[in-house]
Amino acid sequence: MKFMTAEPFRIKMVERVKKTTKEERQKWLKESAYNAFKLRAENVYIDCLTDSGTSAMSSEQWSALMLGDESYAGCKSFYKLEESVQDIFGLPYVQPTHQGRAADYIMAKIYAKEGKYAIGNMHFDTFRGNAEVLGALAVDYVVDEGKDTSSPSQPFKGNIDINKMKRLIEEKGSEQISVVIITVTCNNNGGQPVSMENIKEVSELAREYKIPVVIDSARLSENAYFIQQREEGYKNKSIKEITREMFSYCETATMSSKKDGLVNIGGLFVTRNHEVFQQAQQLAIVHEGFITYGGLTGRDMEALAVGLQEGCDQQYLEYRINQVKYLGDRLEENGIPIIKPTGGHGVYVDGRRFFPHISQDQFPSQRLVVALYEEAGVRAVELGACAFGSKNTITGEPIWPELETMRIGISRRVYTNSHMDVIANALGEIYKNRDQYKGLKLVYEGPIVSLRHFTAGFDLL
Ligand code: F0G
Repeated sequence: MKFMTAEPFRIKMVERVKKTTKEERQKWLKESAYNAFKLRAENVYIDCLTDSGTSAMSSEQWSALMLGDESYAGCKSFYKLEESVQDIFGLPYVQPTHQGRAADYIMAKIYAKEGKYAIGNMHFDTFRGNAEVLGALAVDYVVDEGKDTSSPSQPFKGNIDINKMKRLIEEKGSEQISVVIITVTCNNNGGQPVSMENIKEVSELAREYKIPVVIDSARLSENAYFIQQREEGYKNKSIKEITREMFSYCETATMSSKKDGLVNIGGLFVTRNHEVFQQAQQLAIVHEGFITYGGLTGRDMEALAVGLQEGCDQQYLEYRINQVKYLGDRLEENGIPIIKPTGGHGVYVDGRRFFPHISQDQFPSQRLVVALYEEAGVRAVELGACAFGSKNTITGEPIWPELETMRIGISRRVYTNSHMDVIANALGEIYKNRDQYKGLKLVYEGPIVSLRHFTAGFDLL
């Protein structure tokens, strides 16, 4: 079994990372106002802030870079990318963008409407931000067990709650809902997958009421792998057969290619609707670049054309998902509360159950991020009171989120299981001494609450 899940590659080039002392890390933490976003990456030993744009590229991708054609219009690299995307998505029209949020922007301009609802399992921040600017109402209808970190292991915690969706349609009227967006896998609650059955059901209900469906597909092949492994009827299907079926139920897909595209930059807007495509092309020309590059170089498109295919490789996915599971299993052995089962791109630790004596107004998950960096030079990210907290628009009273986690995002093809052991051991140590930790005080936040985590400043209590 170990043989099956060990790395299906060998390491050809290495990047030195620095081991630092606890005293150094304490100094850097203070200088960064206890905000991991402000640390210099060179002072991080294992960087788990994000799985985005951090993949190691393969020798095939690096050699494809040299074939990059830098023509402004009609470059051959675009056509290679187009073919690769059509193969995986099964959708005809492809507009590249410089990264995911640009595709989100184009999608929001087309599908989000002022005063109307955008239903999602859990909208990612960049669509939510765009929707809010446009005056649309973004609502999260993930199933209840997806919002409870202590709920028992269930295979598809990223699913949309169909009953909530039906209720909104009945209460408000279908014309008040401008779009449904399914994020696969669901990033905000643990990289949890969405089942094919749910994608199909959501799309059937939406079709009945003529509401368009969009799939945010940053982690499309990880979602397809979970469907193959966990859903009846998919065991013998290939990853690409599954991705094509997933997208057969939507009108449009957006993608941050910095995840399952196995590249460091890039995004996609893909659709079956020619009119929508024409609108997307106009928006791309204004905001991104001409339609055959959308803000990417020929080199970037070459690397992505190859990376998308590698991301669908069965052996790669088996290794990838099992590495995340390996870390989750090691944390559980140490008694650490995590979202179960582990999802696609990281392990999410419950900050409130880890530090039960630290209340949400003292940022338990952020405290854990600080402790983990201090202990072992490992950088994770808070997805809790700071990142997801909001305020009552009239009274200014804080509103604390249901999910309070620290995400340990695992970069693709970058770290070994020895690195995973370092993370698990460090968290084990912190957990043993958890009573000794006190919370944090928020001393600075920018003007936009939903973006405050990027620049916030804290003090130790
Ligand atoms: N959609 C999802 C589901 C994402 O996770 C992200 C980025 C985006 C869209 C935006 O894409 O970064 O290429 O502009 N997620 C990163 C993360 C930043 O750390 O989860 P982008």
